[in-house]
Amino acid sequence: MKHISVTYIGASSSKIDLFESQYPIPEGMGYNSYLIKAGKTAVMDTCDPSVEKEWMDNLLSGLDGAEPDYLVVHHMEPDHSSMIARLMDTFPGLTLVCSAAALKMIPNFFPSKDYSARSLAVSEGQSLDLDGASLTFYSAPMVHWPEVMVSYLPEKHMLFSADAFGSFGAVQKGIGGCSEDLTLSDIDAWKDEARRYYCNICGKYGAQVGRLLSKIPAKDIEQVCPLHGPILGLDTIGPAVELYSKWANYTPELEDEVMVACASIHGGTLAAAGKLVEMLNQKGVPAHLVDLCRTDVSYSVADAFRCRSIVLAASSYDAGVFPPMHDFLYHLQIKGLCKRRFAIVENGSWAPSAAKVMKEMLSQLKQVELVEPVVSIRSRLKDSDMPALEQLCAALVR
Ligand SMILES: Cc1cc2nc3c(=O)[nH]c(=O)nc-3n(C[C@H](O)[C@H](O)[C@H](O)COP(=O)(O)O)c2cc1C
Ligand SMILES: [Fe+2]
Ligand SMILES: [Fe+2]
Repeated sequence: MKHISVTYIGASSSKIDLFESQYPIPEGMGYNSYLIKAGKTAVMDTCDPSVEKEWMDNLLSGLDGAEPDYLVVHHMEPDHSSMIARLMDTFPGLTLVCSAAALKMIPNFFPSKDYSARSLAVSEGQSLDLDGASLTFYSAPMVHWPEVMVSYLPEKHMLFSADAFGSFGAVQKGIGGCSEDLTLSDIDAWKDEARRYYCNICGKYGAQVGRLLSKIPAKDIEQVCPLHGPILGLDTIGPAVELYSKWANYTPELEDEVMVACASIHGGTLAAAGKLVEMLNQKGVPAHLVDLCRTDVSYSVADAFRCRSIVLAASSYDAGVFPPMHDFLYHLQIKGLCKRRFAIVENGSWAPSAAKVMKEMLSQLKQVELVEPVVSIRSRLKDSDMPALEQLCAALVR
């Protein structure tokens, strides 16, 4: 039997300010790539332009003078595909392996190049022989883009999962085998940034993620190698798949927790929202306040995916709703959040308009329940507002 090795050749960046020009990445970002060496050699995806040099160094070091035979492209988004042209031009014997949909995208990203004669389009269930090892491909449309596929290396029980099971955050630096050093053993260290990544990147496509989960050979997989974040191993694959099933079904992780999401201009609505959190806690219901004005929306979206009940508390603004709340609800809508309970608290100083807009925006979400009463405050929470707030609290407790 031939020796088979899989080496991590990805690279991380702590220099880019925002991933995809919108997501804060306080812990940096990892762009994963892998090198499989059997009788034939396959490079599994390339990288983001921000880590080009380190990735190329890792690749050349991993190749150790060998010429790669295949470049497998699971996903054409530039954070993984930017080095396709450089690699194809550096190694004239290289064959590009990707889905038919990816093949169509390549000329759009690399207009001056034509690799069609050196490309192999693979379809669902097809295998690529690496002489002593093999890769089987599964299409994963819309897990994040339409051309995405994942692949399975049965000889090593490894799934190359593209953006699925990815996470924000740098991956331990340096080149290494895909062994213990890069494999996550503590799911709690993964789930917050993996949830934020999932909800914002794949959130809208729960049905497609569910379809992928149902067709991968789950019981045989010992390592999941995503394009971002740590590799999942035997201790973490089970819990990660369980979380993914919940997220894909829009099932909240926390049935009882109430997220009180607040957008307040001068603090009056924030005080009312804080009071409601206190009242819920006093009744034994776990609740927490999120200041939408001071929390990046990517975190708030992930929080909404986590909790069953969400209270929306916002100031009125120019006959509408204060923009941070509008932005939050717009994000919940485009990410397809459903199956939730919502409640509304509005504030206004002369003609409150926030509740009407929030209701309209909620009507765009599927399978949501509005917990009443809608509470309407003028400028500051007063004793006369307490009966309505208490009624809402009681309704949320039920
Ligand atoms: C730019 C701006 C526009 C506003 N538009 C409205 C409005 O259309 N209707 C209204 O009743 N109040 C309006 N307000 C007043 C605020 O909604 C009100 O003072 C606020 O609800 C008080 O709660 P807060 O302290 O949480 O901001 C506006 C305030 C600002 C600064
Ligand atoms: Fe992607
Ligand atoms: Fe990605």
